Amino acid sequence: MFTFFSPNSNYKDAFRALKFLLLPWNWGSCKNGKYAELVEKKLAGILGVDRIYCFDSGRTALHEAINAFGVGEGDEVLVQAFTCVVVTNSVKYTGAKPIYVDTEKDGYNMDVEDLKKKITPRTRAVIVQHTFGIPADIEKIMEIAKEHDLKVIEDCAHGIWKGFGTRSDAAIYSFGVEKAISSVRGGALYLKKGKPDSSLPHLPYKIILKHLLHPIFFSIGKTFYRTFGKALLYFSKKTGLTALIIEPKEKKGKRVKWFPAKFSNALAYLAYKQLHLLPEFNKHRQKISLYYRENLPEKYKQTVIDDEKQPTLLRYPVRSKDRDKIMRRAKKSGVFLGNWYDCVVAPKDTKMEEMNYIAGSCPNAEKLTGEIFNLPTGREVSVNLAQKIINLLE
Ligand SMILES: Cc1ncc(COP(=O)(O)O)c(C=O)c1O
Repeated sequence: MFTFFSPNSNYKDAFRALKFLLLPWNWGSCKNGKYAELVEKKLAGILGVDRIYCFDSGRTALHEAINAFGVGEGDEVLVQAFTCVVVTNSVKYTGAKPIYVDTEKDGYNMDVEDLKKKITPRTRAVIVQHTFGIPADIEKIMEIAKEHDLKVIEDCAHGIWKGFGTRSDAAIYSFGVEKAISSVRGGALYLKKGKPDSSLPHLPYKIILKHLLHPIFFSIGKTFYRTFGKALLYFSKKTGLTALIIEPKEKKGKRVKWFPAKFSNALAYLAYKQLHLLPEFNKHRQKISLYYRENLPEKYKQTVIDDEKQPTLLRYPVRSKDRDKIMRRAKKSGVFLGNWYDCVVAPKDTKMEEMNYIAGSCPNAEKLTGEIFNLPTGREVSVNLAQKIINLLE
């Protein structure tokens, strides 16, 4: 049982990818075709907005949102600590400086009081991350942003549902391998006003090919993990047959050659098929999240989720001082728990000197990164399995 490793993709996605790979007459439509537009229309309908713009990834969508607001050299953009390096990079690549806001003391999103303290005359925008799909206090943040004339961009990379992210100036969504739906790589942008740059290039064929190979390798690798699957996944990673979620260059704060890029037809086709399953996926995540909330031992019940709300969590966060021991124990029993985020700018091997993070500036987030781990909520987790996972934590 994996919290990571493409939790949404199965053999059907592998066959869809094969359709592009094995039928040469489809290769021409790997880049151009109708599916990116179909995803834009379908997603706009799901979110309840007029227009959505798709890109090759959530990180590109974020970068394009910041660009669309004319933010760049000499400006500051507020991001929360306890985030992913690609968020910081999306700011850095525009020339603006990322400034980190601490997390809530007992939560996973931006602390509103710390946000106020981090605003300077150079601040132009704030990226509000709804971590794991737990809604941040967007009303309050928008109020503060209005007072200081800041643009608000909601980072909805961890969830997609009606109305999510559509109240502020912009929002981004992700269709990455571990997200609400997955096309291996893909993302979308909602802009309340204006338009993003429409002149971006496509991903190179080589990269599209690697992404198409991903569901094929992973569906075989996961099914046969205990026999040859682990070796197969290792082989595909080491030989570069499947692309990495975050490239080594990105961890050093550098841009890969193919960033930013359009959403290619072959990957949009995978996203389009998965979008139809979104209501089912979300309902399942809600059911499993509620099960964890109600059945976890008392010592783990620190997750701040409003009891009135039905959480649709991408991963269910728990905290423990014995995190590493628990994760090792679970792994021995065949359950791979998640590690989002075990570093203020994750993953752990990110070159922090390049991230503009000042050690000690976000104490809540730093403490959180030493204790957090995540339980899976995806389609492969039955209630029975959720109970087994809970038993492993006792
Ligand atoms: C909080 C957050 N925002 C944005 C992104 C970017 O998404 P993508 O992988 O589609 O570029 C990620 C990726 O993991 C993320 O965790």
